[in-house]
Amino acid sequence: MKVGIVGAGLVGATAAYALTLRGSCSEIVLTDVDGERARAEAQDVAHAAPVSHGARVTSGDPDELRGSAVVIVAAGANQKPGESRLDLLQKNAAIFRDLMGQVTAAAPGATLLIATNPVDVLTGLSAELAPGQPVIGSGTVLDSARFRHLVAARAGVDATHVHGYVLGEHGDSAVVAWSTAAVAGLPVAEFMAARGLPWTPEIRAQIEADTRGAAGQIIAGKRATYYGIGAALARIAERILDDRRAVLTVSAPTPEFGTSLSLPRVLGRAGVLDTIVPALTEEERAALGRSAGILREAAAALNA
Ligand code: 2OP
Repeated sequence: MKVGIVGAGLVGATAAYALTLRGSCSEIVLTDVDGERARAEAQDVAHAAPVSHGARVTSGDPDELRGSAVVIVAAGANQKPGESRLDLLQKNAAIFRDLMGQVTAAAPGATLLIATNPVDVLTGLSAELAPGQPVIGSGTVLDSARFRHLVAARAGVDATHVHGYVLGEHGDSAVVAWSTAAVAGLPVAEFMAARGLPWTPEIRAQIEADTRGAAGQIIAGKRATYYGIGAALARIAERILDDRRAVLTVSAPTPEFGTSLSLPRVLGRAGVLDTIVPALTEEERAALGRSAGILREAAAALNA
């Protein structure tokens, strides 16, 4: 199976690297307005293939995307320290309006996987620019991973055995849905109490703040994030390709909220097969409504 990647910057190149290490697909093509950057990144990632699960990794112009089952779109500017993801909207929307025609012409049968921020609004815009083509955004898959990582550290359990969703905007209004969180099947507070582990409202608040603030903390230190999002993109692409009906909190146009936002969704080759709205608390439901409102407003500003 072939995966195309539009944008050979840090996120796109790291996604190519993650796909190669994991053996997610047999072929990867990187495209970028900076052809030399795409060539060099593809060449560098290709050298990982013989010592990992491998893939044929090449670069080229947009028509090299043809035959891709999934096209990851990671083109555009990323946040500078102190900038919000929504601050990138107009700049990156213009880039999308420019490039999406080439992508859909080259790969009309591909599922589009949007990574560029603000990912929820750009997922909605991409769905408009690529009517009839499945469009998914990386959404809060990375935020949910961060949430699980932070709870796992407190619980002393491997993060793959910690469940929990972050919903809504991949951004400042993200909803850390504690009601969906469990460690080895037990609600977090119960698990921690049963083991005499410290668990206070302050610890919960810190986990929420660190989940939402992770990107800012990383960007302050190294100017960009790419390993977490690169691995998240590889995981989402894999779950689309293997049609395993995995559940991930990806972003997609969601009529009942009037915008694209992240909810747990069943994924397959055709993209989103089903959407599940978890049984949230009143407070979580209200926060999700607020997050949707912020995204509707941002999308409206885009079309203003
Ligand atoms: C992240 O959350 C910046 O959206 C990117 O790492």
